[in-house]
Amino acid sequence: RQRRVKTPYEQRVMRRAVEIAAEAHVQGMRIARPGRWEYEVEAAIEGWFLKSGAMSWGYPSIVGSGPNATILHYTRSTRQMRAGDLLLVDAGANYQGLTGDITRTYPVNGRFTDAQREIYEIVLEALNAGILAARPGGTVEAITQAVRVEIGRGLLRVGLANDPSAATGRSAQIDLWFPHSPVHGIGIDVHESLGVLVPGSTFVVEPGIYVRPDTLARLASDPAQAELARALGPAVERFKDIGVRIEDSLLMTPGGPEIMSYRAPKRVDELERVVGTGR
Ligand code: GLY
Ligand code: MN
Ligand code: MN
Repeated sequence: RQRRVKTPYEQRVMRRAVEIAAEAHVQGMRIARPGRWEYEVEAAIEGWFLKSGAMSWGYPSIVGSGPNATILHYTRSTRQMRAGDLLLVDAGANYQGLTGDITRTYPVNGRFTDAQREIYEIVLEALNAGILAARPGGTVEAITQAVRVEIGRGLLRVGLANDPSAATGRSAQIDLWFPHSPVHGIGIDVHESLGVLVPGSTFVVEPGIYVRPDTLARLASDPAQAELARALGPAVERFKDIGVRIEDSLLMTPGGPEIMSYRAPKRVDELERVVGTGR
């Protein structure tokens, strides 16, 4: 609880930790391309951490391409990336003992497919809605609810849900494809306690959608869910193995949230412009 509100000094260190991480993500984006290996992107990112004066990573980097993007804590980084893959990168630097937490997802060959973009835009809208819901005196629940409403509406739109109450954020169908919480505190630990948001709170918003075929198989094997599995089958076929998470690190100020990770691009056009432009 004592770590819930960062001192002005801690806020300065957090900003720098997140800035280093955001710049490192850009380095990773620049060297990503078909034929490269996940560990090459990881090395570019972690090399940048050290070059920038960070002590290490703040948590083991997640660099997952293709189907690996749907594995929440994939840390092997041993797959060779191919054209048509999405790459999900969740990485943050430990700078002076504090860590940021940033995720970006982008196409290895620099162009989103229609299906990838549809999922991506849902997650990005959910992130933006979550950030809009964050205000001084606000709650984690309010952010979570705003995120879930956008995810739920999006899943209905693309056929990955058919329960109308998904549009209110309160359907269990949302949890099929978004099986984690979108908010936590950050600081000394990448996951810290977070109370009511006040100036000095540091936290993330991190919506995601992970279309794992084994999720559908699990539904299909349950007689009570088999009909749902049949209804969602065509959409799962269209979006299978697409995993998208977008995560920003934020500092609450008296005027609202400051997006500390703003230097890491997240709009589709920005990502398409930067991916693959390095050596
Ligand atoms: N990197 C761990 C998390 O996003 O919570
Ligand atoms: Mn996180
Ligand atoms: Mn993360």
